[in-house]
Amino acid sequence: MTLTVAIDGPAAAGKGTISKAVAQHFGFPHLDTGLLYRAVGKCILAGDDPIEAAQALKADDLDGDDLRTPEIAQAASKVAAMPEVRSALIDFQRAFARRAGGAVLDGRDIGTVICPEAEVKLFVTASDDVRAERRFHELAVKGHEVSLAGVLEDLLARDARDSARSSAPLKAAEDAVILDTSELSVDAAIAQAIEIIEQRLKAE
Ligand code: C5P
Repeated sequence: MTLTVAIDGPAAAGKGTISKAVAQHFGFPHLDTGLLYRAVGKCILAGDDPIEAAQALKADDLDGDDLRTPEIAQAASKVAAMPEVRSALIDFQRAFARRAGGAVLDGRDIGTVICPEAEVKLFVTASDDVRAERRFHELAVKGHEVSLAGVLEDLLARDARDSARSSAPLKAAEDAVILDTSELSVDAAIAQAIEIIEQRLKAE
């Protein structure tokens, strides 16, 4: 049996937190696909060719908090608009999605492109201000010198680029359930996600 849970949505909407908790709850492995693009983004900041970097990516390159910087996030969204970079990363993601037992993947195009046959699709979103505040706190706690206005500007630039690109743009799959976390605590958002997945599974 394979059960793929696809969790997409814009930056800092809560996908990562929800995906990890859902994966733990159902006992599935989790892949944060943003790390793939961040790892390639890190390579272009070091002067490497993005397509070669994507083709040469290894699991070890996905480790570490050092990929979660604002600079790498912007570089990730630039390389993510390149069709050759995206296609170099598809097989790895599809194999992960369809592994025996099940898997949780979060990103921008999991339910639309990587695994349109996923048994459960969630599109996690939140208002721009809430997302900016959450990301601002995350970065500030880690010691990054950022301003709330700067974080908001970065998120909106990234969302605009991610939504406007022609290759696998950020959008909800037609059969995705939308989960707006703007007014929800972390625990409530996780509980709703688990409830949605359980309902979907009962309906299968
Ligand atoms: O999810 P995260 O914010 O770490 O993603 C970084 C960037 O990687 C996104 O802004 C987006 O451009 C890209 N991305 C993507 N497709 C995915 C996951 C991330 O294009 N499935």
